[in-house]
Amino acid sequence: MIKYLSVLFYAFVSVTFAQTLSSPNKNIQLNFYITDNGIPQYSVNYKNKAVIEKSNLGIELQDTNHLTQNFELITSENSTFNETWQPVLGEELNITNHYNQLTLQLNQKKTNRKLTLIFKVYNEGVAFRYEFPLQENLTYFTISDEKTQFNLTENYKTFWIPGDYDSQEYTYNETKISEINIANLDLNNGIALKTNKSNYRVQSPLQLKSTAGLYVNIFEAAVNNYPVMHLDVDTKNYDFTSHLVPNALGAKAYLRTPAVSPWRTLMISDDARDIVSSKLILNLNEPCKIEDTSFIKPMKYVGIWWEMHIGKATWDYAGSQNAQNALDKELKPSGKHGATTSNTKKYIDFAAKHGFDGVLVEGWNTGWEDWFGNWKEDVFDFQTPYPDFNLKEVTDYAKLKGVKMIMHHETSGSVANYERYLDRAFQLMKNYNYPAVKSGYVGRIIPRGEYHDGQTMVNHFNFVAKRAADFKLMVNSHESSRPTGFHRTYPNYIAAEAARGNEFNAWSNGNPPMHETILPFTRLLGGPMDYTPGIFEIKMNVYDASKKEQVHTTLAKQLALYVTMYSPLQMAADLPENYEKYIDAFQFIKDVAVDWQKSIYLEAEPGDYLTVVRKEKNGERWFLGTITDENPRKTNVNLSFLSPNKTYKMIVYKDKKDAHWQNNPKSYEILTKKVTYKDNLTLELAAGGGCAVSFEPMK
Ligand code: NOJ
Ligand code: CA
Repeated sequence: MIKYLSVLFYAFVSVTFAQTLSSPNKNIQLNFYITDNGIPQYSVNYKNKAVIEKSNLGIELQDTNHLTQNFELITSENSTFNETWQPVLGEELNITNHYNQLTLQLNQKKTNRKLTLIFKVYNEGVAFRYEFPLQENLTYFTISDEKTQFNLTENYKTFWIPGDYDSQEYTYNETKISEINIANLDLNNGIALKTNKSNYRVQSPLQLKSTAGLYVNIFEAAVNNYPVMHLDVDTKNYDFTSHLVPNALGAKAYLRTPAVSPWRTLMISDDARDIVSSKLILNLNEPCKIEDTSFIKPMKYVGIWWEMHIGKATWDYAGSQNAQNALDKELKPSGKHGATTSNTKKYIDFAAKHGFDGVLVEGWNTGWEDWFGNWKEDVFDFQTPYPDFNLKEVTDYAKLKGVKMIMHHETSGSVANYERYLDRAFQLMKNYNYPAVKSGYVGRIIPRGEYHDGQTMVNHFNFVAKRAADFKLMVNSHESSRPTGFHRTYPNYIAAEAARGNEFNAWSNGNPPMHETILPFTRLLGGPMDYTPGIFEIKMNVYDASKKEQVHTTLAKQLALYVTMYSPLQMAADLPENYEKYIDAFQFIKDVAVDWQKSIYLEAEPGDYLTVVRKEKNGERWFLGTITDENPRKTNVNLSFLSPNKTYKMIVYKDKKDAHWQNNPKSYEILTKKVTYKDNLTLELAAGGGCAVSFEPMK
């Protein structure tokens, strides 16, 4: 009753203007208001129930009047949009972009400044952005904060990570909104650099679930020339407010009209599968700007990588991580350097033998003796190989074997230095025929004072992708800001890490079994992730008896991740000798596709499980991946997605009855069977387990 009265109060007393917009299927309704004080507000209903209560919109400016109140409506316009487009690489051959739009031009009375709000309502969510049109009274301006509210109606369950300016490499916390508090976390989690400024701040994408089973996801799309949006939480009223990551001076964004903010997005559904299959974020980005996309190719790769993470080899030649050594011009080889010509040749042989497209080599270039922790500017030149790595010999050998090399550019956060060398580094890649680069941003940023998620760095990450496109190169960044669909516009930005990857299982407390069931609801909504799955030697004590670290999944679940974690770039991350040991299971990694015609999410529940089937692009094979959290799970899959006029050879890679992620992770079995679309498949997943299945039409 009290709530009802306050609605009446708003409706008849303080709101001078209101307008409504619905999704094409009418499930979602967006309401826009301007209060008597000229404050723009919005609210959202799903199936006639309030999901977002009246929430303010507004931008605060430095040294001038805020764009938060005193607005009047000048014009309002409705439109509808419906198109289908084709991503260069993706989960689907065709993507539908269908929404209703409301464009509102506002004028701030006392300053005569114009602000445009654009709302788009899709079947699975709402998006809106601020536009700052070209105008007389606003040219250059600095945003000191954005005050976009997301006022929820109840104490949702959330899957959250701290609103850290420099890292998203956290495990997720599953708590009520009222229980969000970073002070309660154990932050001894292996993250090298943490910048948390408030205990009540979380990152987006933020996945929420109501007690009645409504899934809400708060995120953003098309972050370009603007900082990343984190969310300040009001744990008593269940409200979130945008918090933009600052620059070195504390300001948020330097803009000039005409300019736009990123899209603020709310995905809403009572079916969790609608969230993980949503293409909302991609749809809100601009179409591809690369004319000739023929150089953009999916890739499965192996690399000189895991051996450093498990401590078998080192990135640096002198093996010391000691600055003194770096000063010594005559570095003495430790004998543990991973990136040698001969070791690289072994990986090339392995890739060629098993049909992999690429080989990544980390630690090939000088600088690793003193690369981290000292906020050093001039670390790497991205051009000078160590004496035991012969670029020409490696290139010639890779060509002979029909394998592509993947370049590695660790910047150690010294972005100023990287930008100085960027064109030369890219030219070197062209000279030696490397089609793709993996970049890395471990450590504090230079220009000093900048954060990974600030406007400067967002611009850097986007710039590198654009510049790489000029050179016809693909980019896979690690420790970048998390993607928000920019790969629609620059599909050569093929993948990113930007979340806690498998590597944390090698040397920290790792990723709990539920981790990979949450990523599709969070990080993966913005773009493909280079998670680096495929670790078969689950326990690190095989390398050193004193080690306690382990991968928190079964071996079979590592296989399933190739299907559940969409990416056109997938690594087979373990050591070649480990694959040789489990060569029958390795077959799935060799077979699995990485670019898709169609994806069907059969089951999804954040923090619990996910089942997806995908059909390869330009082929008739299907692949299924299903994963569970720490609980064992039994599920039944109806094979009706298969073509009715074909018989398939099905190979099931599953946890054995006695498998368990902790007690018995490598217990798996492989079953082969003839099936058709009429069959059903019962799958039993171990605790922390999973199952991978391939379906190949029989001749
Ligand atoms: C962190 C990256 O995530 C990892 O993949 C890489 O090996 C190291 N940085 C070194 O660049
Ligand atoms: Ca990383």
